[in-house]
Amino acid sequence: MNSHSPTASLDEAYTAHLDITGAAIDRALEELRLPGVAIHAGSLHGVFLDDQTYPFKPNPWFLWLAPLADTPDSLILWEPGQTPRLILVVPDDYWHLPPQPPVDPWVKHFALEIVRTPEEALALLPAPERGWAWLGEPAPPGDWSHVNPEHLHRRLEQARCRKTDYELLCMQEASRLGVAGHRAAQHAFEAGGSEFAIHMAFLRASSMTDTDLPYASIVGLNEHAATLHYQHRDRQVPAQHRSLLIDAGAGFRGYASDITRTWAAPAMSLFGSLVDGMDRMQQGLCAQVRTGVPWPALHMAAHRGVARLLRTAGVLRVGEDEALESGLTRAFLPHGLGHLLGLQVHDVGGFHETADAPPLPPPEGHRWLRLTRRLEPGFVVTVEPGLYFIPMLLAPLRAGPLAGSVDWQLVDQLAPCGGIRIEDNVVVTAAGPPRNLTREAFAAG
Ligand code: GLY
Ligand code: MN
Ligand code: MN
Repeated sequence: MNSHSPTASLDEAYTAHLDITGAAIDRALEELRLPGVAIHAGSLHGVFLDDQTYPFKPNPWFLWLAPLADTPDSLILWEPGQTPRLILVVPDDYWHLPPQPPVDPWVKHFALEIVRTPEEALALLPAPERGWAWLGEPAPPGDWSHVNPEHLHRRLEQARCRKTDYELLCMQEASRLGVAGHRAAQHAFEAGGSEFAIHMAFLRASSMTDTDLPYASIVGLNEHAATLHYQHRDRQVPAQHRSLLIDAGAGFRGYASDITRTWAAPAMSLFGSLVDGMDRMQQGLCAQVRTGVPWPALHMAAHRGVARLLRTAGVLRVGEDEALESGLTRAFLPHGLGHLLGLQVHDVGGFHETADAPPLPPPEGHRWLRLTRRLEPGFVVTVEPGLYFIPMLLAPLRAGPLAGSVDWQLVDQLAPCGGIRIEDNVVVTAAGPPRNLTREAFAAG
């Protein structure tokens, strides 16, 4: 957890958040005739043949109710009509600092019970015969019949998609921190830093350690920008700084920002004009993030935008319609336009319009799309069109029947810059224009 800017309004917003969230849980339990739900925070996982553990990742259902990032084995016991119980495991441990019992105002909504061991926490669970549901990664002790029930997940996911004001405040703060990191990363690029140096500049300015990050940052110089989830941080300074693609976010109370920027060195004028064109196109897409819009339609609009840009730059020798119909643009934009964002970077609830509806499939040939439904108020989505020069995807195009549709000389000229992605986090409003958390944070200075 980051200690920046906890405010009275955040505490008030949390109270409303728990009311809304609690009502959704009660409704789901009633519909499914379940008397209560136990939510486990998650456990630490040991490394094979070692005495270390992997970084702890809490169960998002636990975080949704209690902003506690580092309380393995703790439990929330939720029973409609009762004060929820928060069973906090505070081990006797002099090797590690045990979790400190929370004193923040949100905790007054819970009956807090401190125990010393995971076993003591589990001993406080209702007996399996009582028929409670269990949400969590480790299996509950005994013979529970409702372990991570699909129907309960579906119902709660519908609630998690629509962010409360509290969640939006958290995401606003995560955006502010993430944008501070992005500014520093841009400066480090302009100063000629290595990927490692740019990564460290992001961490310092966003006030994150690597394990605080909502996802591993993607910091790609030059050709590395063509690897969608490039995972290294080269210590070597490259001979030339042509481009930087940085996809990096920050976290606040468990909520994520997920932000990408692409920077071109001044000498890369053709690539730079594509970056500018993508930025304009991306903002046009952001403006269309409105209630009722089917996300796949926006995804297809992004493909059209990429076709237009490539056509204008001379990379494509065919018109937009032909480029779309033949599937050409999929070689340049091989991922979805975006996804829901929240406690998880790829947040839940992108496929089902109601809890009991079947999943909506992505358009044919677009299997990476993680959001296939219409937009609703309170959704937070990423809008992240891309345009890449990925050798693995371009080679078959170059060797195939569509080769004549592409100016390969221009492709070869652009490929050393890797690719472009521009990603903002956008809130769908009930009526009127969307709220762009990322651009707001950049504009705030
Ligand atoms: N950072 C991962 C993504 O943009 O989806
Ligand atoms: Mn991203
Ligand atoms: Mn994303």
